[in-house]
Amino acid sequence: MYRLILGIESSCDETGVALVRVDAQGSAPVLLAHALHSQIALHQAYGGVVPELASRDHIRRVLPLTRTVLAQAGASLGAVDLVAFTRGPGLAGALLVGAGVACALGAALGVPVLGVHHLEGHLLSPFLSADPPEFPFVALLVSGGHTQLMRVNGVGRYTLLGETIDDAAGEAFDKSAKLMGLPYPGGPVLARLAQDGDAAAFKLPRPLLHSGDLDFSFAGLKTAVLTQARKLGAALEERKADLAASTQAAIVEVLVKKSLKALDRAQLKRLVVAGGVGANRLLRDTLDQACRARGVRVHYPELHLCTDNGAMIAMAAAMRVQAGVAEAACDYAFDVRPRWPLQDLSR
Ligand code: KG4
Ligand code: ZN
Repeated sequence: MYRLILGIESSCDETGVALVRVDAQGSAPVLLAHALHSQIALHQAYGGVVPELASRDHIRRVLPLTRTVLAQAGASLGAVDLVAFTRGPGLAGALLVGAGVACALGAALGVPVLGVHHLEGHLLSPFLSADPPEFPFVALLVSGGHTQLMRVNGVGRYTLLGETIDDAAGEAFDKSAKLMGLPYPGGPVLARLAQDGDAAAFKLPRPLLHSGDLDFSFAGLKTAVLTQARKLGAALEERKADLAASTQAAIVEVLVKKSLKALDRAQLKRLVVAGGVGANRLLRDTLDQACRARGVRVHYPELHLCTDNGAMIAMAAAMRVQAGVAEAACDYAFDVRPRWPLQDLSR
């Protein structure tokens, strides 16, 4: 059994490092320390993530963050038993930085490394909250690159119920924000602006709302936002908050209705929401209300652990170890998987 697990996240535009302690088989892993560096300021001038700049910044940040985490936890590097890193999905160059550092540390310390699936990290991140879920549950995974509904029976036991056929929910937020002239990162900026807007001001499509399945489509919404923005022309400036509120309402309505449908289909009364869009206030409030009325328990990660971080990677590794499904290795091959379906993990 590995006791101290160091986790490294570097799949996109945040460098995250964390240290988790695993005690007895039955008890929950404990987050000892975590540290994060966001690249928002670095990419802002370009209006989106520049992969090459992201990789170079991960190189600069990962070891200083590791030192910070060890100091915060009062632990020495030599005490680490397992080094976990994000193996995918994500930007290849960015993933290689975390994988390379993890493998170098593993080889130097003579301990195994474990490549973690980024979405499994998000999925299990609510287990770090004060109100952790219990298996089985339905998970709504909403990040910048993915929008999926999964049935989760246990660690590594995931069944896909539905997913987006084009853009992800986070992408819909980000692209709509860009079309409105809002700065990167679009999602949170659009959500903030929407607070001052009228969600009923513009009629925007709710794609696949009545499709009968659990799939999503957000590409058409983006086109509708573009059409509205063009129609408004110079008037866009003063109607921006209304358009932001209408866009957010469309995305949230689809996510909520499909999540409820998934709970019905799976005959479960427990929902876990994870990924960056899970930080969205309207989504949380609407889900809370709808679920309370149906006797469904909803679990979220702590707000600061919704977006990418190292804690969720160390936690996913710890839970895999405890569940006996960790494929820890000493080959230090630092192979990454920029494209990697979550269902591939299922036993
Ligand atoms: O999980 P995450 O940090 O990275 C990925 O794995 O993709 O998610 C980032 C996504 C971005 O699309 C971002 O705009 C969105 O989450 N996001 C939000 C909010 N905070 C982050 N979208 C809407 N409202 C928010 N408050
Ligand atoms: Zn993520």
